[in-house]
Amino acid sequence: MQKAAFVTGIDGQDGAYLARLLLEKDYRVFGFLRRSTRYAFDNLDYVGVTDRVDFIEGDLADEVSLINALRLCQPDEVYNLAAQSFVGISWDQPQVTSDINAMGVLRLLNAIKNFCPNAKFYQASTSEMFGNANRAGIQTENTPFHPRSPYAVSKLFGYWITVNYKESYRMFCVNGILFNHESPIRGKEFVTRKITDGVARIKCGLLDQIALGNLDSKRDWGFAGDYVEAMWLMLQQKEPDDYIISTGETHSVREFARIAFERARIKNWTKHVHLDPRYKRPAELFTLQGRSTKAARKLNWRPKVKFEELVRMMVDADLERVKTEVKKTGAPRRQS
Ligand code: NAP
Ligand code: GDD
Repeated sequence: MQKAAFVTGIDGQDGAYLARLLLEKDYRVFGFLRRSTRYAFDNLDYVGVTDRVDFIEGDLADEVSLINALRLCQPDEVYNLAAQSFVGISWDQPQVTSDINAMGVLRLLNAIKNFCPNAKFYQASTSEMFGNANRAGIQTENTPFHPRSPYAVSKLFGYWITVNYKESYRMFCVNGILFNHESPIRGKEFVTRKITDGVARIKCGLLDQIALGNLDSKRDWGFAGDYVEAMWLMLQQKEPDDYIISTGETHSVREFARIAFERARIKNWTKHVHLDPRYKRPAELFTLQGRSTKAARKLNWRPKVKFEELVRMMVDADLERVKTEVKKTGAPRRQS
């Protein structure tokens, strides 16, 4: 019988890649979508699945909408990808961030418990929860948490309430502790896409400089297309468990920027980067590097796309997009 999956955050980066993966596996995919005056299906269009997803409108802030959605689709698997996912803005909007990323998980779990208790549940947990707890070393499933942003604090509640529902009600609940993962459809507020989009605009004469914050931050960056496979694999196991998903490598923002400019054949890249204190954070997380040996051993999961390949993929996609934009709109108008 065809399986049904309920995916929140369907129009985000991971939602799009996961929807494509599940459709390839012949799932019926129900996508939970926030009401909007201007719906944008760019990410789902990019992966070519917009017409094949069944959309259900609702909001993680509204338990009634979650209950209605679950009663309607009776899913075998639930993937909770929806979140206020931008760390930087979480200091300005800590309450919204907490309501969606913490209470939203509780609302969804409670709705599952009451209306489809046999559904398997995936929670999008994050390496942000580690903070700088293990600054010099590699993070594993046993590294203690020390969240450094309202976003990370809210996600830590999501993590523990997922564990708690598993232990209290014997539900199949897992946390994927995913390290940063990117793609050509990454939101432009995140540093990688901000850089690749900026590089493409500089190359096409639309922009002089990119304004950035801390260039020394290091992240373990992988490809989103690889990471959604790990989400699915976690829900195919006999027993629910939590897994780190990462590449095991760490690179600085500076390194990412240098490679991105090189790919576009722009010389003297530092001239095109302007350091702007507005992009520095009240509390920074300096280095992330994850060890995903448990996922390799138990899920047989390994990342396929390497760091430099990821940067090149993102730059090439943005160059193509911006060139198309310039062709459509005519002569470039330079932004500062
Ligand atoms: P994303 O592109 O920012 O997508 C977030 C999605 O959540 C969007 O579809 C957004 O819908 C939806 N959403 C936000 N608030 C909502 C609400 N109140 N009700 C329903 N939907 C809501 O994020 P992503 O990169 O795909 O990440 C997916 C998940 O993984 C997030 O939970 C994120 O925190 C977590 N995570 C991401 C990474 C990473 O590196 N990408 C790493 C670890 C964990 P709108 O379009 O309406 O805003
Ligand atoms: N966004 C942004 N913009 N970050 C900048 C900038 C800038 O102009 N300049 C430097 N950075 C630094 C940030 O200070 C941070 O240290 C690093 O670049 C990465 O920032 P983001 O790309 O915004 O990602 P993030 O690591 O904070 O959060 C992402 O990864 C988490 C997993 O570790 C998000 O996807 C989270 O949702 C996810 O949980």
